[in-house]
Amino acid sequence: MAGLAEIRSTFLNYFKKHGHEEVKSSTLVPSNDPTLMFTNSGMVQFKNVFTGLESRSYDKAVTSQKCLRAGGKHNDLDNVGYTSRHHTFFEMLGNFSFGNYFKEKAIPLAWDLITKEFSLPKERLLVTVFHTDNEAIEIWKKYAGLSDSQIIKINTVDNFWSMGSTGPCGPCSEIFFDHGSGYEGTPPGEDGDEGDRYIEIWNLVFMQFNRDSNGKLNPLPKPSVDTGMGLERIAAVMQGVNSNYDTDLLSNLVKSPNNLLKVNDAISHKVIADHIRSVVFLLLEGILPSNEGRGYVLRRILRRAVRHGYKLGARSPFMSKLVDCLVKEMGEAYPQLAQSKKLIEDAIHQEEKKFFSTLETGISILNKEILELNNKLIPGDLAFKLHD
Ligand code: SER
Repeated sequence: MAGLAEIRSTFLNYFKKHGHEEVKSSTLVPSNDPTLMFTNSGMVQFKNVFTGLESRSYDKAVTSQKCLRAGGKHNDLDNVGYTSRHHTFFEMLGNFSFGNYFKEKAIPLAWDLITKEFSLPKERLLVTVFHTDNEAIEIWKKYAGLSDSQIIKINTVDNFWSMGSTGPCGPCSEIFFDHGSGYEGTPPGEDGDEGDRYIEIWNLVFMQFNRDSNGKLNPLPKPSVDTGMGLERIAAVMQGVNSNYDTDLLSNLVKSPNNLLKVNDAISHKVIADHIRSVVFLLLEGILPSNEGRGYVLRRILRRAVRHGYKLGARSPFMSKLVDCLVKEMGEAYPQLAQSKKLIEDAIHQEEKKFFSTLETGISILNKEILELNNKLIPGDLAFKLHD
C-alpha cells in the first residue's frame, strides 16, 4: 500500500519526467501577497508569475505545498471534525504551466497520472467542467474516452476558481472518484452531492484572468494552468479508505496514545489530529499565539483543540505531547520540525496551560449562573464576559 510519502514523490517525479521544475513548498505566510492571510493553495507562490509581474527560469513547475485554510476566503475551521475530509492544514500536490501549455495538455497529463501511475479504474472517475467550456468537454471525451454521463456541466462558482477576491482565476474542471455504492451521496451538481460517495480528488484550473479590485476580469498575459490535488484525499483513494483520517499519517495522529483515546469520540479525535498540524506548522514559521491577525488564528485553532480535549476529560496540557508523533510522521519531508521540536512543544504547553485555567473559570461561572437562571435567558453581559 502506497503511503503518503510515496504518493507525494510519485506525483513530483511524474511531472519532473515531463519537464516540470520541482519547486519547494513556500511558507504558510505568503511572502509576496498582503491580500492573503495564509497560503491556501499551491498557486499562491506563483501569483505574480501568472500575472506576468515576475518571470522565472522555468515555465512549468510542480510542488507539494503546505496549505492552511483557517481564515480568509477559504476557511474550513468549523467543518473540521464533522466531515471525513476537511482540514485546516493539508498538503496540495500541483502542476503549473505559466503560458507553456493549457487544457489540451493539462487534461492528458492528469488523466495519465491517475489512470496509469496511480491505476485508478476509469469507470470510477467522473469530471465536472464549467458549463460553457466546450473545449474541455471535447478533450475529456477524445483523450480520456469519458462518456457524456461522466462529464458534468456546472454553472456555478464551484467551477470557476479564484484565489481570493482579487488575483488570478479561471474556469476549472474537477476530477471526482466514486467510492462506491456503500456510501451515501450523489454525483456533483445534484442535490445531496455533499455525501461521502463522490469525492473531488483533483482540480484543474485553466487560469485565464486576473480579477482586479473593481471585480473586473482582465485577461492574463498567457493562458496558464494551476492544478491542486489534496494529498490526504488521493491517499484515501489509493489506500482503499473513505476518510482522510484513516490514511497512514492522519490515522497515526488520531490513534496516538496522546490523543486522549480513553474516550471514544471520533469528532474530537479528528479535530485534535488536524489541529496539531496547523499549530505546529504555524509555530515553525515563528507565528505565536496572540489576540490579533495570524497569531489570533493560531490561538483559535489551538483553543478549539483544547476545548475538544476538555470534552474528552483532559484537565491539563496534552497537545504538546502530540508533537512527537507528528515529527515522526512528517519529519522526513520537513526536517526543520525535528530541529525546532523543543521550542514548539514549550510554546504549545504554555498556551494550553493558560487556556485550561481560563476554561475552568469560565465553565464554573457558566454552571453557577445556569443553576440560578430558572429557565430565563442568559443575560447579555454574562454572554459577553464568557466570550471575552
Ligand atoms: N488553486 C486550485 C485549488 O486550490 C487548484 O490548485 O483548488
